[in-house]
Amino acid sequence: MTILVTGGCGFIGSNFILEWLAQSDEAVINVDCLTYAANPKNLVSLAGSNRYRHVHCSIGDGDRISALLAENEVRAVVNFAAESHVDRSILGPAAFVETNVVGTMRLLDAVRGYYDGLAADARARFRFVHVSTDEVYGTLTPEARPFREGDPYRPNSPYAASKAASDHLVRAYRETYGLPTLTTNCSNNYGPYHFPEKLIPLVILNAIAGKALPIYGDGLNVRDWLYVSDHCAAIRLVLERGRVGETYNIGGSSEMTNLAVVNEICAVLDAQRPALRPYADQITFVRDRPGHDRRYAVDAGKIRAELGWRPTETFASGIRKTVAWNLANETWIADVTSGAYRSWIARQYA
Ligand code: NAD
Ligand code: TYD
Repeated sequence: MTILVTGGCGFIGSNFILEWLAQSDEAVINVDCLTYAANPKNLVSLAGSNRYRHVHCSIGDGDRISALLAENEVRAVVNFAAESHVDRSILGPAAFVETNVVGTMRLLDAVRGYYDGLAADARARFRFVHVSTDEVYGTLTPEARPFREGDPYRPNSPYAASKAASDHLVRAYRETYGLPTLTTNCSNNYGPYHFPEKLIPLVILNAIAGKALPIYGDGLNVRDWLYVSDHCAAIRLVLERGRVGETYNIGGSSEMTNLAVVNEICAVLDAQRPALRPYADQITFVRDRPGHDRRYAVDAGKIRAELGWRPTETFASGIRKTVAWNLANETWIADVTSGAYRSWIARQYA
């Protein structure tokens, strides 16, 4: 059997594919059009594998996706492909609508055509898993309970709005055309292969380079952090045992302010790579992000009760692994921080 993964050269998709091929006999086709956020070298260890193939193609290329599905008798699609960085969505929403909304719709159309032509047993087995975010629910006050499935969508950034639209399309293709879809809404991930435009890898990178550690606003915005392999395990469970048509929230129950996250990274770096002065001395407060959501938190009770999922890493254990991975992979970091990355940093933090 074969599964088709989209966006597999990005952060979470790379981790998912590496774990999938280590744990299962099934082949993976990775459809990724290689935006700035992609790094095919994440998957260099799979070179020569007859169970892995990267196809340089957009999820918006319906004809190509239709052909890939049919030629490979794909039994499931896991859709990671997206524009994923909130700050970039603030500077340019169009790419987010193009990929996350229009691209997802084209992908759904191609999958629907393929699904409709399958024999009854293959239809019964087929699944489309859409990987989404807790940001679709909007922001929480400090005292509010964490987001549950079924809470209203109130996206505040163009990124969150485009993901919300994609979730709605996925739901509509289930309700209207009977496509066997499942959607996951996960909190903030961190771990290996994380592109250093996001908070955690950016802070690790800047810290060891002796640069400022930029904290937006007062640093008291709260995120619920989850180690990436715990997210990948949850997606595998949803794919194998989730109820068709359902959505599942996934979160680490690990709420922290940004300031606490950055201080923890600094403390781990002080232990793993001591410098002349504490890394926390490099913390700098900078202009806040427009529309900056104050707090995200996810109630993962449904996936815990129905599928038995639990995170295996705490933030303390996961961040130690993540810092160690970054320190041990300086070539990977040098590769992803060339030209275009430096232009982004110069523009964003000017
Ligand atoms: P990422 O930005 O690291 O990777 C996205 C990948 O998608 C890249 O390899 C890119 O080349 C590819 N891609 C973009 N547009 C494409 C297109 N039109 N066709 C084919 N490929 C395309 O993202 P990530 O952090 O790995 O996130 C993966 C998914 O998980 C996204 O859908 C995101 O919304 C969701 N998510 C992310 C987080 C997080 O904390 N990173 C949390 C919850 C949900
Ligand atoms: P980010 O990693 O961009 O994820 P998201 O916006 O999807 O939650 O940001 C995580 C938090 O860190 C968010 O509250 C914004 C904040 N942040 C900073 O304070 N400084 C930074 O340089 C970045 C990139 C983010």
